[in-house]
Amino acid sequence: MNQQQYYRWWQREDLCYQQGHLYFAGKAVEGLATQCGTPAFIYSAPRVQDNLLRLRTSLNQAGFAKRFSLYYAMKANRFAPLLAMLKQSGLCGIDACSPAEIELAVSCGFAPAEISFTASSLSTRDLDVITRYDGLCMNCDSLHAIHQWGQRKPHTTIGLRVNPGMGIGRVDNDKLQYAGSQTTKFGIYWQQFAEALAVAAQYNLEVDTIHFHTGCGYLTEQLHRLERIIAHCFCFIEKVGTIKYVNIGGGLGVPHLPADAPLDLERWTMVLQRQFGATDLHLRIEPGDYIVKDAGLLLLEKTFVEKKRGDHLCRCRRGVQHCSGACLLHPPLSAPASSLQPRAMHNQDSGGQYK
Ligand SMILES: Cc1ncc(COP(=O)(O)O)c(C=O)c1O
Repeated sequence: MNQQQYYRWWQREDLCYQQGHLYFAGKAVEGLATQCGTPAFIYSAPRVQDNLLRLRTSLNQAGFAKRFSLYYAMKANRFAPLLAMLKQSGLCGIDACSPAEIELAVSCGFAPAEISFTASSLSTRDLDVITRYDGLCMNCDSLHAIHQWGQRKPHTTIGLRVNPGMGIGRVDNDKLQYAGSQTTKFGIYWQQFAEALAVAAQYNLEVDTIHFHTGCGYLTEQLHRLERIIAHCFCFIEKVGTIKYVNIGGGLGVPHLPADAPLDLERWTMVLQRQFGATDLHLRIEPGDYIVKDAGLLLLEKTFVEKKRGDHLCRCRRGVQHCSGACLLHPPLSAPASSLQPRAMHNQDSGGQYK
């Protein structure tokens, strides 16, 4: 791949070079860097909304109109103005995973009923806070959580996060899968499922949702896994008998490398259609990365470039809290004339640790 192709794969109408200068959301990035200083995160609200609308349109066209709800997994980006914009857009609810996330989402305008809550390892103090929010969609992921919830909120409705023992992840990387042959903390296994239902019954909790989120970053090549996971999870749905909602989690990926194609949403909805088309189940989907990952840039100042062995290493001033695994090194504000080849920060073959 030559340098020109490398630069081309991630460019799109609202993120591209024009006359050698980088533009994002209609603005010259160089001007923004001057205005805000660096390091700085910049976000495009229209891109976030486009990402949500693309999902919504695909689901509507696939026959799921009024039979699905999107919950933005706010762990992907908790920037309050972004959350407030999402609330105003009316395009999604929120997937939260801690009491602090619920408090932030509510402070940005989301009602508890617009929040789906799924977390593991909840403390007594966490549960005391969470149970103050009436109407929240609570997904319990352990027998312990069902007991704790039941003691505080008997006669209410809950979801159960299950673990199908199968995962999905970018380039089938098992480090990105939350379920598989190894036992993980995420969700209730089939072996404990009957007991989980008995505990729920003990507190008169109605189970109306089956939830599973089994990995992240999947693209079109992994859709066959998604289909197998959903098909498998019907055993949980049927065992309960009264399930109204199925939450298939998030995990939808975006391209990270020149060879990646965007997730084919037509094929994604075909999987959902095959699995849920003939049912009257309501789908809940909680994407995080897919909504925001390609809608923001981190602007850094180059401090210096130095040759080490055969490679040129570019050093940047980026502050201490940036997770270097979370991004690709993209080209600077103006297209370089030099032959420097930007490179992913992590091992490209393994798919990287980009969370
Ligand atoms: C329960 C749950 N739902 C949704 C998500 C969002 O995942 P992603 O950002 O990969 O879509 C996560 C991420 O870890 C999660 O744990």
